Amino acid sequence: MNISYTELLKDAIEASKKSYSPYSTFPVGACVLYESGNKYQGCNVENASYGLTLCAERNAISNAIINGETSKIEAIAIYSPKQKRCLPCGACRQWLSEFAKNEKETKIILEDTNDKILVLSLEDIFPYGFKFDE
Ligand code: THU
Repeated sequence: MNISYTELLKDAIEASKKSYSPYSTFPVGACVLYESGNKYQGCNVENASYGLTLCAERNAISNAIINGETSKIEAIAIYSPKQKRCLPCGACRQWLSEFAKNEKETKIILEDTNDKILVLSLEDIFPYGFKFDE
């Protein structure tokens, strides 16, 4: 598949602008790309009861599910204007693992220092994750 990581990161940047994050003032945007070629955006949504906050990545994956996506995740771009290399939290890594094409091929796309793009695999950031035996 011809994936433009720059384009995917742009979609994550756009999503971060919709963030509802009055408590942390730390906006996050994500855009998840599926094998089908479809892309879905998500942003973090905070709550006065802090622990109920929804991360951008899980919002993007939920967006895919409600839109009927059934293929696997090729890549996800994540962006925060507050922090370079804005990596997914542990809960979001577990969610990505559930729907990933596979740990090696599913890519995590981040804005690196010097405006470069950093490409990691899910395996790099989530080895030995929990899964039921197939
Ligand atoms: N956040 C995300 O959206 N994704 C992550 O993977 C880590 C953290 C959000 C949650 C909260 O709204 C803000 O970033 C600060 O923790």
